[in-house]
Amino acid sequence: MVVLLLYLAYALVLSVALARAGHRSRPAAAIGGSRQEPSRVLIIGATGGTGRQLVTQALARGYAVTALVRDPSRLQLDHPKLAVVQGNVLDAGSVDEAVRGQDAVLCALGHKRFFLPTRILSEGTRNILGAMETHGVRRLVCETSLGIEDSAGRMGLYYTFFVIPLILPFYFWDKTRQERLIAGSAAEWVIVRPGVLTNRDGRGRYRHGRRVGSLLWTVRISRADVAAFMLDELVSGADLRSATGVCW
Ligand SMILES: NC(=O)c1ccc[n+]([C@@H]2O[C@H](COP(=O)([O-])OP(=O)(O)OC[C@H]3O[C@@H](n4cnc5c(N)ncnc54)[C@H](OP(=O)(O)O)[C@@H]3O)[C@@H](O)[C@H]2O)c1
Repeated sequence: MVVLLLYLAYALVLSVALARAGHRSRPAAAIGGSRQEPSRVLIIGATGGTGRQLVTQALARGYAVTALVRDPSRLQLDHPKLAVVQGNVLDAGSVDEAVRGQDAVLCALGHKRFFLPTRILSEGTRNILGAMETHGVRRLVCETSLGIEDSAGRMGLYYTFFVIPLILPFYFWDKTRQERLIAGSAAEWVIVRPGVLTNRDGRGRYRHGRRVGSLLWTVRISRADVAAFMLDELVSGADLRSATGVCW
């Protein structure tokens, strides 16, 4: 009983810490942005679930796409408007090469190193933001997760009291660092915080905003719909410099 109470206290404290450690979004309308339609986009995490969707959907929308990948053989996509740069987000040189000449960056970076302290997301994002500043690339749309800042608890009870505290505390802590870096940058950014991801076909619709998600139930969305939302955000400029949740 004592152990259970201690565990619940830990889960609650972590949730509050994730809520407080995130950046503070400002109202988007007050900021505005260039709203120029980009034509060349860099996709980070292109071999992953969301990233692959981003590549195929961006190509279908007519963008010239560059994919930064660690292993090009894993991409298995061929298209006249697709360029591949081999590199690693933790290597500033390869990130710089990939960012040069782009109009915008879409980031769906993730990894599975859950049980150890990690800075892969934040250090990788620091390199991306640095290269964007160097090359005057302004627009960034980055996928993080529900569960941070004012979305803390909104992945539902199972994630708030089991998955995040037991499996993902280090990972989520790094996500808060990643979000703070983005929020403190000069970029025109949109942070996209999805619910639990599925590989189902896209529905072509989603709910989004600062208050989506559920305190009780696990909320989900397909990677296809997250990618569609990220690409929509790339041009709409509606939610510039704000973090927005997205789920079905
Ligand atoms: N799973 C969920 O339910 C869920 C829910 C909410 C949010 N999210 C978040 O959404 C994001 C995308 O998730 P996902 O499952 O679609 O992605 P994923 O399949 O885990 O793919 C992650 C991508 O990041 C790349 N990557 C990892 N380390 C890299 C490095 N050092 N340099 C360059 N690329 C690197 C991977 O490349 P390799 O192919 O080389 O490994 C892969 O392409 C993640 O941040 C995840 O935490 C996930």
